[in-house]
Amino acid sequence: MTVNKVTSLNLEQKAALTSGAGWWDTVAYPDAGISAVVMSDGPHGLRFQETDADHLGLSVSAPATCFPPAVALASSWDTGLAHRVGVALGIESQSFGVNVLLGPGINIKRSPLCGRNFEYFSEDPMLSGELGVAWVNGIQSQGVGASLKHFAANNQESERMTVSADIAPRPLQEIYLRAFRRVIMEATPWTVMCSYNRINGLHAAQNSWLLTDVLRDEWGYDGVVVSDWGAVVDRVKGLSAGLDLEMPSSSGAGPAQVAAAVRSGALDEALVDRSASRLIELAAKSELGSRPGTTFDASEHHALAREAAINGAVLLKNDGAFLPLDPSAGQKIAVIGEFARTPRYQGAGSSTVVPTRLDNALDAIRGLAGDAGIAFAAGFTVDGEPEAAVDPALCEEAVALAAASDVVLLFVGLPASFESEGFDRQHIELPQEQTELIHAVAAVNNNVVVVLANGSVVRVSAWADNVPAILEGWLGGQAGGSAIADLLFGMANPSGRLTETIPLRLEDTPAYLNFPGEAGHVTYGEGLFVGYRHYDARKLAVSFPFGHGLSYTSFEYSNLRVIDADGGAQLTVTVRNSGARAGREVVQAYVKAPGSRVQRPERELKGFASVHLQPGESAEVLITVPRGEFAYYDSAAAAWLVEELEYSFEVGASIRDLRLSSTLAIHGEDFVAMVDRESTIGDWFSHPVGGPALRRLLEPVLLAFRSGAPEGSSRDRMIMGTRLGQLVQFPMIPVAEDDLDGLLELVKGS
Ligand code: BGC
Repeated sequence: MTVNKVTSLNLEQKAALTSGAGWWDTVAYPDAGISAVVMSDGPHGLRFQETDADHLGLSVSAPATCFPPAVALASSWDTGLAHRVGVALGIESQSFGVNVLLGPGINIKRSPLCGRNFEYFSEDPMLSGELGVAWVNGIQSQGVGASLKHFAANNQESERMTVSADIAPRPLQEIYLRAFRRVIMEATPWTVMCSYNRINGLHAAQNSWLLTDVLRDEWGYDGVVVSDWGAVVDRVKGLSAGLDLEMPSSSGAGPAQVAAAVRSGALDEALVDRSASRLIELAAKSELGSRPGTTFDASEHHALAREAAINGAVLLKNDGAFLPLDPSAGQKIAVIGEFARTPRYQGAGSSTVVPTRLDNALDAIRGLAGDAGIAFAAGFTVDGEPEAAVDPALCEEAVALAAASDVVLLFVGLPASFESEGFDRQHIELPQEQTELIHAVAAVNNNVVVVLANGSVVRVSAWADNVPAILEGWLGGQAGGSAIADLLFGMANPSGRLTETIPLRLEDTPAYLNFPGEAGHVTYGEGLFVGYRHYDARKLAVSFPFGHGLSYTSFEYSNLRVIDADGGAQLTVTVRNSGARAGREVVQAYVKAPGSRVQRPERELKGFASVHLQPGESAEVLITVPRGEFAYYDSAAAAWLVEELEYSFEVGASIRDLRLSSTLAIHGEDFVAMVDRESTIGDWFSHPVGGPALRRLLEPVLLAFRSGAPEGSSRDRMIMGTRLGQLVQFPMIPVAEDDLDGLLELVKGS
């Protein structure tokens, strides 16, 4: 069918199909039965532009539900919720006639400075992958495609169009591509959006290793690769590399170059056919999935947005069970901070959604606790550039109110000018006037709850010790304000967990010395040691660790069992709600690989599950760790390998609150590293066939060289670094060229 449709088009028509018709749609050929595909941002709500179009969220779009951006949704660690939000987004897409929603963004949060971290899930690839799978499956269940972005290694906004992310093979595979791999292989998004940046020198948009060798040949992807908006550098090179669709329209320039390249013989027409066929396939899928006349229930979706904001908020600190507040206690409550009245609820840039309605925490608190005991002071302003926000009179008014109140709910956070698509942050501090306000308020009142609104972590160590409670609300979407009120007053029990470590200071962060790079390159010098992998390896204290989040109840863990399951592992653990309130616990499973032949992080997240429990109730929680999760990427073999090891399993409530542990031996895969003339004696000795043969040859030399010292002594270690080919150059070593040829012949067949 598809093939027939391609053959019915001439070269110009096929080339035109591989470029957008406008900002958001592809070319249609009604006579050939090929319809247009309509795309829209994304990811946490529809930014459907009916008139003026742009890719930076500048022009107005139609109202749609603004769900919590990825930072908050991910902090729920709740795949069921991510799926339901995906379903709701699919329904809203249908209501706007949108066939592909441009999300989710699953890039790794390499540095808290990345201006776009609010749009990404985590510093961990396993968590990002799981949530991505759930989200994509949710939206695609509604006949609407996802666009997995930004492929790949788009971990900063500084020079995002040009910078080369220079990454060694292992971190590239194990950290930066791993979540993409999982979502591609388990959820098959209809489209994948390539990033603007270069990877090891080559633009993603024309990187055939990335777009063809890895994405298609290794991972088996057969959907459409679309450029990020304006990411195409050389259209012909891009098409050859596997970039099917250029977006937005280049007003005919791209298609003309493609057609000319075919005519001149520089480009094989079969490659144009291949991309055009994929586009035709996408158009057919879109048409089939399309449900004209779909409407959505804005109240229902608002309620879902509220649930997501509740589950994504993280109670960082709660000394002496200070929270929840009792709404009927008749306390004088000061609500301080402009963010309580003017919420910061989503990030800036192409993902900006016009919400269907917007809750603010101040109104919601008044709704719950009554008007009488609630007084408000702005404390600071949030509009305009941050420098303009300092207003000593506002601060004084707020401090006076705090001094006269029983409890202070202090709403602080980052203004939009601090974090956005298109630029990175310079530091991880709150605006200075807000930090000063926290100090001043805490100096006159001991009962201060700090409520944070920010898209990526801020330093809290400057003031966290001065207040009994901190609630991290992130950017909570359009219902974030009422969600926070629900949590503060115990209508809901906090259960979100950190998907990114909160460091004591910026200087402790893994990429600190390598961000954002210079001279067009950024070196990922921390290698595998991203996020918690770094804090663990360096045994660094942090403000709040990965996976951390408190509850108004408590949970006990017992009876961890780990068994083999299809070459992977299956964990069961009993969790009991030992407190007085119903609540949700996020159970996390970390795996260690002691004795590995390669460098490994201390421990890595390999599974998680959440469980709702009534007071006193217990449940058996099941976590499956598929075999693939045990694999590391072997750079020499250029393959994923599972090592034969006794792995350790740790289960707990955060990476630094591990309650139970156990071990399981996992059967490994044989791998013999190739050896040749360039390999060292050490590598040769490790070879099962070449090792014994070379040892026999070198025996007399080794004995003499050791001069009585035992095997493995420093003398031996000196020799291990010698290159095999070098042996013939030393007169005292009785090894000739013929011997080397013999050795090479011997290992050839092994
Ligand atoms: C962003 C993408 C977005 C696209 C379309 C780009 O600038 O990086 O995430 O989907 O614009 O608006």
